[in-house]
Parts: sequence; structure tokens; C-alpha cells
Amino acid sequence: MSDESSNDTLPHYTWPLLLAGQKALVTGANSGIGKAVATGLGRSGADVAINYITDEDVAEAMVKEIEGFGVKAIAVKADVSNEDEVRAMFNTVLDAFGTLDILVANAGLQRDAAYDEMTLEQWNKVISVNLTGQFLCTREAVKEFKRRGVREEVSAAAGKIICMSSVHQVIPWSGHANYASSKGGIDMLMQSMAQELAPLHIRINSIAPGAIRTPINRKVWDSPDAYAKLMKLIPYQRIGEPEDIAQAAVYLASDMSDYVNGSTLFVDGGMTCYPGFATGG
Ligand code: BGC
Repeated sequence: MSDESSNDTLPHYTWPLLLAGQKALVTGANSGIGKAVATGLGRSGADVAINYITDEDVAEAMVKEIEGFGVKAIAVKADVSNEDEVRAMFNTVLDAFGTLDILVANAGLQRDAAYDEMTLEQWNKVISVNLTGQFLCTREAVKEFKRRGVREEVSAAAGKIICMSSVHQVIPWSGHANYASSKGGIDMLMQSMAQELAPLHIRINSIAPGAIRTPINRKVWDSPDAYAKLMKLIPYQRIGEPEDIAQAAVYLASDMSDYVNGSTLFVDGGMTCYPGFATGG
């Protein structure tokens, strides 16, 4: 990390035991935002299932780290865009934990290309992991939440789903039409689920991260020039850290947000505040 991209104004993250006794599954949990979210849920008292597709060693190391917080953790390999693998993953999690209270549908990727050069394969890959993957995982979670109902001893809700979206559910993105479309789709998926499932006390919300320091966007923060350019898009004048998203996820998974349903929480340092208009317009 360069000096210019380092941060001396980071918040002090705190992890009260808001999720004690709850069972969580985080998809795409062994890197970037998913890794911080899984770790944060564990620090907050939840048992955590870490879904991954590559880098098993990282997932296994996370199991050890999260167990160190005094909770259970397991690593589960599955491709979220594959229906059979998703079903098998849920069976594994339910066998290990007995039930599920929290799903963070986080797994996502980018396959960027100029519009006229984007292949069908690039389009399909992004839509199938980012959007269809959230459909397949949330569907299995909802089945378990419906079957079980409210566990009053741990939460007022019968289950909580957090869809990992992006500022690009509202900000169009040249060269990333597949990715922006998948995130726009997540918004309607999330809201439709929230409307349908609220009467059952199942809460569904999204987090829309802005630029967060993870491998997916390394090229926008790992050189001083790129970082300076990125700051033109972020009124708060720092890149987001994965823990910023983890804190939001703990809030949305906990009863502190019990009346929050069908919402998107933008965690973006003001990226969606049209920063170009600070001096223009
Ligand atoms: C993308 C990142 C990007 C950020 C802000 C995210 O959803 O995955 O690559 O830096 O949005 O543009």
C-alpha cells in the first residue's frame, strides 16, 4: 500500500455481542468484503459458515480465527450460481448449526469490457454469480426461515437477509454494463423479497458499498495517482475499508435494525452525492 492510499483517519471499529447465539452464512466469504463481514459477524457472537470457491487455505485459516472468538465456524465450498451446489451448501450448514438466522448474499465478481466488446460469456458469468447466485441462496435461506419462524431467544425476526449490492445499483458504469445490471437487478430482487416476506417477519435489506479497499478494485487504490483520482469521486476523502461494510452488516443483521426492511444502506463516503456537482452545475 502506498503512503498516499494509507489512512490515518480510520474509525475505531467496535463489535458488541449483538448477534450472540445466531447462525450466519456469508457467501464469497474468504476475500474482500465477505471476509470482513464473516469475521465481524463472528466477533459479534454469531456462528459463521464461510462459503468459498477458491483458496480453501484462506477459508480454513478464517475458521480458526473466528473460532478464537468463542463461536463455531465452518468452511463450505460451493459455486453460488449452481443450484445443486447451493442446496448441498445449505444442507451442510443446517447439519452443522441446526438452523440459520442470517444470510449475507455477498459473492460477486466483475468481468469488465467495453460494451461492443463484451462477450456473452462475460455477461452470463456476472449475471449468474451476482444476481442468480443471490436468488439461489436467498431462496434456500427463506425456506429455512419459513420452516422455523422466530427464535425469540436470539432475534425478533424470523430471519435476516443482507444482499451485497453496490453504488452501481444507481450509478451507471461505462465498461461495466454487466456488473451494473446485476446490481440494479439485486435492488428489485431485494425489494420484492422484502415486500413478500415481511408479513412472516423475515427482513431483507441491501448494503451498497462504494469504493472499498479490496482485491476487486486494486487498480484504483494501489498507486498514488489512482488514489488521487478516486478521491474526486468520494466527498468523505478516504477509501472505504472492508470493516466499514462489516459494521453495517452487523447492524442490519441485528435487532437494532428491526424496523428496517426493504432498504438499501449506502456505505460509500458520499459517492452517490454527485461529487462532480460540488463545483459544477
Ligand atoms: C466495484 C468496485 C468499485 C466500486 C465503486 C464496486 O461495486 O466492485 O470495483 O471501485 O463499486 O465504483
